[in-house]
Amino acid sequence: MKVTVVGAGNVGATCADVLASREIANEIILLDIKEGFAEGKALDIWQTAPINLYDSRTIGSTNDYAMTKDSDVVVITSGLPRKPGMSRDDLIATNAGIVKTVTENVIKYSPNAIIVVVSNPLDVMTYCAYLNAKTDSKKVFGMAGVLDTARYRAFLATELNVSPKDIQAVLMGGHGDTMVPLPRYTTVAGIPVTELISEEKLNEIIERTKFGGGEIVKLLGTSAWYAPGAAAAQMVEAIVRDQKRIFPVCAWLTGEYGLKDIYLGVPVVLGKNGIERIIELDLNDAEKALLSESAEAVKSVMDVLDNMNATA
Ligand code: LAC
Repeated sequence: MKVTVVGAGNVGATCADVLASREIANEIILLDIKEGFAEGKALDIWQTAPINLYDSRTIGSTNDYAMTKDSDVVVITSGLPRKPGMSRDDLIATNAGIVKTVTENVIKYSPNAIIVVVSNPLDVMTYCAYLNAKTDSKKVFGMAGVLDTARYRAFLATELNVSPKDIQAVLMGGHGDTMVPLPRYTTVAGIPVTELISEEKLNEIIERTKFGGGEIVKLLGTSAWYAPGAAAAQMVEAIVRDQKRIFPVCAWLTGEYGLKDIYLGVPVVLGKNGIERIIELDLNDAEKALLSESAEAVKSVMDVLDNMNATA
């Protein structure tokens, strides 16, 4: 299996490192526009192989897409990260141009690749990749829910003092302040979370999750990378190993949840064909209202992109 990671910044390099060290792909191309940058990171990652005892090869490339030829999966992390005070949506103009160029190059050399988008603003950059890839929407989707759910699960694990392994959760909606964690679908080793935590504490955790990315931007002065990189790698693993894992993924909706022509986070089954199917939960009225609020927020940023394209 060959996987390309475009963008050798913190998220891309972390993703490549996880893909290599867990032997998720035997060939990993790390590509960046900055001269020598991806080669340097790739060399450093490859030099962990004798220490960590694996044989997956990571190879760096300065913008030479010919090296990405026939990739099975491509992870796009390119674009500027957030600075303190910025929302993910503030990045749209710069990152849309980058994601468009990257996607065109990726598809030129790997027309059948499955594309996992990580660039922000996530839902709209996934839409941007889809528009430019001109491929099946089941093969173009975004990484957000795995990360946001991981944050939610980590906060719950800390609060309950239990293993994060035992916390299962679903989270829907856009990758922004309107994301929708779903307490009704959150369990701890099969026990509904509401039996183990007060409503007030759970609401605090939900609020903290919504701003989980911003919390890290404030602390570090730039976006997170360990969890985003690992989350993208986990999605790649589900695809290349055809695991049929169920993850919340930013997917193109064609009527599911009463929504269409929009990229939004929903639970899906991930396997070798990309999104094998979208799971439709029986949401109650309050949950539906939160999801539709989130869809409106994403749609308004998609409109900004559509208007940019119309004038381009
Ligand atoms: C975050 C960025 C990667 O949520 O969107 O940390």
